[in-house]
Amino acid sequence: MKAGGDEIKGLILAGGSGTRLRPITGTGPKQLIPIANRPVIRYCIQDISNCGISEIGIILGNNYPHKIIDLLGDGRELGVNFTYIRQGQPLGIAHAIGSARDFLGNERFVVYLGDNLLKSGISNIAEEFTQNKLESMILLSRVREPSRFGVAVMDDDGNVVDLVEKPDKPPSPFALVGVYFLTDKIFPIIDSLRPSGRGELEITDALRILMKSGHGVEARTVSGWWKDTGRVEDILEANRLILEDLYEKKSDPLDHIGKSTHIDGNATIIPPVIIGEGCTILSGAMIGPYVAVGDNCRIQGAGIHDSVIDKNVQIDCSRVIERSLIGKGVRITVSGSGNRDVGGMGDLTLVLGENSHAEF
Ligand code: TTP
Repeated sequence: MKAGGDEIKGLILAGGSGTRLRPITGTGPKQLIPIANRPVIRYCIQDISNCGISEIGIILGNNYPHKIIDLLGDGRELGVNFTYIRQGQPLGIAHAIGSARDFLGNERFVVYLGDNLLKSGISNIAEEFTQNKLESMILLSRVREPSRFGVAVMDDDGNVVDLVEKPDKPPSPFALVGVYFLTDKIFPIIDSLRPSGRGELEITDALRILMKSGHGVEARTVSGWWKDTGRVEDILEANRLILEDLYEKKSDPLDHIGKSTHIDGNATIIPPVIIGEGCTILSGAMIGPYVAVGDNCRIQGAGIHDSVIDKNVQIDCSRVIERSLIGKGVRITVSGSGNRDVGGMGDLTLVLGENSHAEF
């Protein structure tokens, strides 16, 4: 995006350790977890490229970083140019931004946490930042559990005067969204930070210093939902929200079923559901609502609700599977007796890492 000769760059943070999403993150970065059959990071890239930004840096950590490069390549296909930057150890969001100093230079930029999702994107805010040459902008979202996030402290006129990280008693319901519009003024501040109690250089500390040092930090409340997909329940909620959006645009389930996928006449699909390519959904299966099934899955007998199922998964048992996150290549079967009908034994809620085998 160009305005008055200034180009804005994008920076996506795809490092971190993803401990709260184990065992799924035991075999890959969390930014590649599919939400409605698209890796989370793709939504961030889309939001940034919708602003007209073409130079995008991607911060890589130590958790299978090559899987991100393998998926995204150089960006040419998407009309953007990716520069990969190794942060290594997850020493904090502010540390990750500091690692990109050479890439960002003295240009203005937007940082987007690679596991965040926003219903309405960021183009309006990017335009305001660029047009008005603002020094920095933060985004806020009203949330139910502010104490899980950085929270804005407001004065009586609703201006943000301070930020507090994960407060026990939240001073407002407004959480700091993982998208920050910044300039190179942030770098000396990052240099001055000391690690927090959890050993990280905190972005909230950097933004507080920026605020207190008289640099303008403008806050805007996002329209539409915001989701930080750090935990399994967040992934499932994001999946529900994106599926709802997809069905708002196209309400026919057939629009959300991939090529060469076969659905048996005795299987039931309850929208909103998305099913990838090359899948076989066999007799007795009941899929939905709020289920995403990746490419090349084979599902027989099971009732699946409110779940994310990655590629190449095989499920062959008559159980209800709900609120589950199933990694690539997982097999869920019944024991050797061959009696597939083990219904009545209670519903299953599973989080299974890549290539696991669960037998009931
Ligand atoms: P977090 O969810 O705060 O941290 P994490 O990924 O280590 O997860 P967990 O707490 O479950 O162990 O990170 C938010 C985003 O920022 C996420 O996309 C990862 C990214 N990140 C980095 O790129 N570098 C870092 O040093 C940190 C802490 C996070």
